[in-house]
Amino acid sequence: MSETHLDFYPTDKKKLYALLAEQLKALTDGECHVIPNLANCSALIFNALNDLNWAGFYIVETDETTGKEYLLLGPFQGKTACIRIPCGRGVCGTAMATGKIQLVKNVHEFPGHIACDSASNSEIVLPIHNDGKVVAVLDIDSPKLSRFDEEDKNGLQDLVEILEEACEF
Ligand code: SME
Repeated sequence: MSETHLDFYPTDKKKLYALLAEQLKALTDGECHVIPNLANCSALIFNALNDLNWAGFYIVETDETTGKEYLLLGPFQGKTACIRIPCGRGVCGTAMATGKIQLVKNVHEFPGHIACDSASNSEIVLPIHNDGKVVAVLDIDSPKLSRFDEEDKNGLQDLVEILEEACEF
């Protein structure tokens, strides 16, 4: 916790995520548009969590030619990233295909991991649902191995549920 922008946030993860949930609720209050809500959420996460190099979203789109669904780069914070990810590819594509949270302690051991930034060593991807269908994913990368644990998973899932409630996907 050496960065000044993190000083405001509690180090205790339960308290941190409770505060972030409160802030995200306030930021999305009365706003249902996907783009500003995802943009603010990525900024909130990127500035509050330590040891991150990327935090953002991929949105499910349908290819007009093939009719196949894929993930398209959405609002994010961090270095430039790959734009399209096929369903089932990498960590994000796996979260999309399975509808399940992917908590990856070492991305180098994940088959098909897509390295947008060679600095990334661990990653968590949470699917976002609407009417029982995956409509987007929240992707967070860290240069630190095993950066994310069950507390992060639960706290981030709370944020995802706030987005599912607020946004009209
Ligand atoms: N590593 C991800 C790709 C997206 S970038 O990390 C921003 C994956 O394997 O799906």
